[in-house]
Amino acid sequence: MSATSSSGRVTVQDIARMHADGQRIAMLTAYDYPTARILDDAGLPMLLVGDSLGEVMLGYESTVRVSMDEMLHHVKAVVRGTQRALVVGDMPFLSYEQPDQAVENAGRFLREAGAQAVKVEGGVRTARAIEAIVRAGIPVMGHIGWTPQARLGMGRVRVQGKTREAAQRLMSDAVAVQAAGAFAIVLELVPEQLAAAITARLHIPTIGIGAGAGCSGQVQVVTDLLGLGSFVPRHARPYAHLRETIADAARAYAADVAAGTFPGEAETTRMDDSVLAEALGQGELDRPGTGSFLIPLDRDL
Ligand code: KIV
Repeated sequence: MSATSSSGRVTVQDIARMHADGQRIAMLTAYDYPTARILDDAGLPMLLVGDSLGEVMLGYESTVRVSMDEMLHHVKAVVRGTQRALVVGDMPFLSYEQPDQAVENAGRFLREAGAQAVKVEGGVRTARAIEAIVRAGIPVMGHIGWTPQARLGMGRVRVQGKTREAAQRLMSDAVAVQAAGAFAIVLELVPEQLAAAITARLHIPTIGIGAGAGCSGQVQVVTDLLGLGSFVPRHARPYAHLRETIADAARAYAADVAAGTFPGEAETTRMDDSVLAEALGQGELDRPGTGSFLIPLDRDL
């Protein structure tokens, strides 16, 4: 079934409708034009240009290093590669500390890069920023649980909300994000039962990553899905193994170049020998492989 009721891009209203109809929502991250085109053609209703960009595409050790300019650059590419998917731009670290700054930067994702929504990490802590962005007419997706931008304060990567107090805090975060006007919320690394309880409490869809099957939808980092990375998190399921596929292709190509079998006839264009001979000012052309191939040094080519 199509995600949209009319032509054009999926809207946040379409997402709300899918949720109301009980459809589970599949979202993937995307960072570049060719991948975005493939995912859009495959019918994914929402693509997230996550700040995971920093780690999986740019080689930073953490998402904290990603700048607004880097995010906008990649959101533009994903928007150019899509016609149907709702594109969500992830607001990077320190880009939404104050409500005014949050509105200004969220606006750049829409105005300069063409996104249809932004994502903001944090619950109660960032509810004021979310509210200001939503009031400015910009759809916001929340993100609670494990929030990578806060990793220096949160310690090592681990499932959040396992104690009574932590579970209550996460529930309060979810309710605050919804009350601030978010249209959906990512739950990252949350125990299955707590994620299901949050999903039952909220009327907006929950999009889980490492949060079990009780969420309204799921999101995965596309490089995990495609088997491109060197490490697969426990919550991810690789649906392809492109790392090996790419390495095999690269090795086969290098071997063909070394053997002189690439390019072959199929990848090569030839011209009329007599035209070339005329162009080179030679009566009779000596072809490579059949003798010397001499280009007169006194001619302009
Ligand atoms: O940056 C990202 O890719 C994300 C997803 C993991 C939700 O925030």
